[in-house]
Amino acid sequence: MSATSDIRRPTPPDILARKGGTPLVMLTAYTTPIARLVDPHCDITLVGDSLGMVLHGLPSTLGVTMEMMILHGQAVARGVTKSMLVIDMPFGSYEEGREQAFRNAARLMVETGAAAVKLEGGEHMADTIGFLTQRGIPVMAHVGLTPQSVNVLGGYPVQGRGNESGRIRTDAAAVAEAGAFSVVLEKLPATLADEITKAIAIPTIGIGASAGCDGQVLVVDDMLGLFTSFLPKFVKRYADLGAEADRAIAAYAAEVRARTFPAAEHLFGDEPPRT
Ligand code: KIV
Repeated sequence: MSATSDIRRPTPPDILARKGGTPLVMLTAYTTPIARLVDPHCDITLVGDSLGMVLHGLPSTLGVTMEMMILHGQAVARGVTKSMLVIDMPFGSYEEGREQAFRNAARLMVETGAAAVKLEGGEHMADTIGFLTQRGIPVMAHVGLTPQSVNVLGGYPVQGRGNESGRIRTDAAAVAEAGAFSVVLEKLPATLADEITKAIAIPTIGIGASAGCDGQVLVVDDMLGLFTSFLPKFVKRYADLGAEADRAIAAYAAEVRARTFPAAEHLFGDEPPRT
């Protein structure tokens, strides 16, 4: 038995029970080494489809496939022992109907070991969320700004301002009612996020929402300064690892060109092997 195998990892009902309690901590991870860094500090590790932009250089999350999610999900699962693993359903894998959603959600869970899936959409996804939940697939919902709808939205604008707030409230209430165990609220006015958090019975996890949410999530590469193509207002940079990596790589290149690397301590002599 491994040293960590007796740690009881949070389950979807545990996350649900955290409503109104100590805020839930969630970060993304796409690889084993990053999962090992994130896992000890988080309640939930998310294999987000943001990996399309962050790791694969895609212009949006739309080009992310089931195969990409499964490959990265398996890598992350190898680095996670303490937190709950949630995996995003990629664009086109669930919107067609509840049977399609079940088939792909089950495949994601079986092939990666994730405990739950996350999917984007509010009221119009409620039927699918109920169908999955009743068949053994816990669902984290995602409302407000839903990045897979980038073409319909014309970009990534703040959602729920003015007259639009009713639609977001309805979406959040519908996914909670349908059986989602938590819901990500993305890029909303803080007052609206607070009202929704008070109104629904499941934990809200904010990203660009409010400190009053039941938890927070960020893309780990954003908060570590590893993904620098753009910096949304809601990201706080906790480190600047991109700048540190640039410094290290420049130093390596300079030393190679100056023949000061490798130095004597990095080289092998021709002594006979020890017996
Ligand atoms: O894909 C992702 O990383 C996400 C989080 C930012 C919530 O959906």
